[in-house]
Amino acid sequence: MLAEALLYARARIGGQQNPHGHLTELVGIWARHRRQRRAWAEHLTRARVLCLKAAEACNSRRTALVLGAGLLLDVPLEQLSALFRQVVLADLAFLPATVRLARALGNVELVHTDLSGCLDALPNADALAAAQAPGPDLTLGLPALDYVYSANLLSQLPLYVLTALRNVIPDQQNGNTHKAFAASLVRAHLASLAALPCPACLVADTLERGYRAGQLEYEADLLYGVRLDLPAETWAWRLAPRGEIHPDMDVERLVIGAPDVRAMLSPLPGG
Ligand SMILES: C[S@@+](CC[C@H](N)C(=O)[O-])C[C@H]1O[C@@H](n2cnc3c(N)ncnc32)[C@H](O)[C@@H]1O
Repeated sequence: MLAEALLYARARIGGQQNPHGHLTELVGIWARHRRQRRAWAEHLTRARVLCLKAAEACNSRRTALVLGAGLLLDVPLEQLSALFRQVVLADLAFLPATVRLARALGNVELVHTDLSGCLDALPNADALAAAQAPGPDLTLGLPALDYVYSANLLSQLPLYVLTALRNVIPDQQNGNTHKAFAASLVRAHLASLAALPCPACLVADTLERGYRAGQLEYEADLLYGVRLDLPAETWAWRLAPRGEIHPDMDVERLVIGAPDVRAMLSPLPGG
């Protein structure tokens, strides 16, 4: 707890903001990773290898963009920095180690941005009722974009928006509308990836499963009903071996990874 509090304080002193609770969450991920380093290793390696292979397949290597770069756990930043003239990391916040590494590499830029496009301007009643999330421009206006990596961001995108929405309209009144809007955020991210002018590599967790004594206890859809039936690699992420979240339950997530989802995403599944 002390290490987390210190890290949070250092990040705040370094200028990171926390209006949506995202910095608190990043510090939480940092702490969970420290505890579960071994359990997470295979998942993180698979994501990094997939990202790097997709990047190496790019003929032109001007700018690479990582969406949801966070703590860089699943991002091979040093290798991307060596491959591309410029690497841009986009997230709501960054921890001090990421800021330091970016500076040391010299060609890495950090961009603080809301990739859902609606945290600072929550949807109005019409957009909410129509379940129509804004389609963000995932090029972020970068002119020489040759590679984009969506780094386990997809299932996380609706979380802060849902929290903000629940503060305005409680779930009891509008639970289904909230869920439909969350699904539209997932679809909007996929549609924006599909619209990119360069390869769009996607790693995303899609399903969470809890096991008690080896028996399936629950299964939760992390994408709010949006189906991602892509010809992609899949693997399990041992997110929380027993004791981490539940005293006697192992929680894992199903992850998909695809080097370039643009052609695969039209028409969008689960519409
Ligand atoms: C599961 S974490 C993956 C983090 C990262 N790829 C890593 O390896 O550390 C999801 C990331 O998405 C970011 N994120 C969630 N919602 C976001 C939003 N609306 N805009 C930008 N980033 C967001 C979080 O801050 C977090 O860093």
